[in-house]
Amino acid sequence: MKKTLTTGILGCGNISEIYLKNCQALPGLALLACADIHPERTAAKAAQFDIRPLSIPELLADPAIEIIINLTPPMAHATLNLAALEAGKHVYTEKPLAVNREDGRHTVELARANRLRVGSAPDTFLGAGLQTCRKLLDEGAIGVPVAATAFMSGHGPEAWHPNPKFFYKQGAGPLFDVGPYYLTALVSLLGPVARVAGSARASFPERRITSAAHYGEIIQVEVPTHVAGVLDFANGVIGTLITSFDIWAANLPYIEIYGSEGTLSVPDPNTFGGPVRLWQHNGGWREIPLIQGHSENSRGLGAADMAQAICEGRQHRANGDLAYHVLDVMHILLEASATGRHLTPESSCTRPEPMHIA
Ligand SMILES: NC(=O)c1ccc[n+]([C@@H]2O[C@H](COP(=O)([O-])OP(=O)(O)OC[C@H]3O[C@@H](n4cnc5c(N)ncnc54)[C@H](O)[C@@H]3O)[C@@H](O)[C@H]2O)c1
Repeated sequence: MKKTLTTGILGCGNISEIYLKNCQALPGLALLACADIHPERTAAKAAQFDIRPLSIPELLADPAIEIIINLTPPMAHATLNLAALEAGKHVYTEKPLAVNREDGRHTVELARANRLRVGSAPDTFLGAGLQTCRKLLDEGAIGVPVAATAFMSGHGPEAWHPNPKFFYKQGAGPLFDVGPYYLTALVSLLGPVARVAGSARASFPERRITSAAHYGEIIQVEVPTHVAGVLDFANGVIGTLITSFDIWAANLPYIEIYGSEGTLSVPDPNTFGGPVRLWQHNGGWREIPLIQGHSENSRGLGAADMAQAICEGRQHRANGDLAYHVLDVMHILLEASATGRHLTPESSCTRPEPMHIA
């Protein structure tokens, strides 16, 4: 049986370093090449990782490449993912799957029609922290889940990010930039969302950059920066979600799941590790040792799982249906706020299989 798929990285920016490193170590992937619109970035990464520097058309046309991992900014995702699928390649993309739902849907449909795979970050839910939570839930450690909370609170990236403008433009904001981690974690643990209500606002119309490169420049805010939602999961769990760039300080958990017999405290879904904490009647709170495997930064694990799934003829976990459902729920949240109504996502998905890493 074939065991690896040849892989090319598209986009040699900030996040590419960890992907290039992990793609040379994770099973299932044979890293061959990279490409970027800036040839000097391509050349630097190719030299550092001893792979072939290619132009974007060369990468897309290269018959030796089976999977393209797309690490470009969100606005470029759909065009490049569709081009890769048209070129007959499987695609694994950074989040979000696309900026708008039409492009996201088209990407999943084209992959299906062409008998190719599409996968998407985040893949943090495949790490030891969230997989430990999954195991506890499946074993009934908190009984029947009835409710969940998920909070991402902060005051935005303009104090530390070198170029923070895009965080306040279409396709970003706290919901689209960080929301995928929280929503993917929730859906992987609890299943799909069936109904959504929401309220969203841009509390401050302008932001002043205080990081070095663009110090003092003003950003015009074009997206909601505080988004609160109620998520009714298909299994009956009522979820409460806040993603915010408007909060200076808070004492909120990342994610908690409340069950008939206990409470599960879920680690930061933007990481692969712990801590995982469990409350049960007979002992109160205790920290649960993580199951083995991938507690460090394992970005690319979802792509490796996709490659192995292709070889084994099974569904991959960080798949297009899951990513499209998360994209759909994010849009529905804002539409629910705008219309003042509960809304039903057009999409659904199944819970990905647990990792079974002993
Ligand atoms: N930086 C992080 O910490 C981080 C973490 C998780 C996820 N992500 C996601 O990863 C993706 C990339 O983020 P980043 O921080 O690496 O961005 P970045 O701006 O540092 O890098 C993006 C790279 O893509 C290249 N690029 C842009 N348009 C292109 C195109 N049309 N064709 C080919 N290359 C193109 C740019 O030249 C750049 O080198 C985003 O989707 C982001 O949400 C980033």
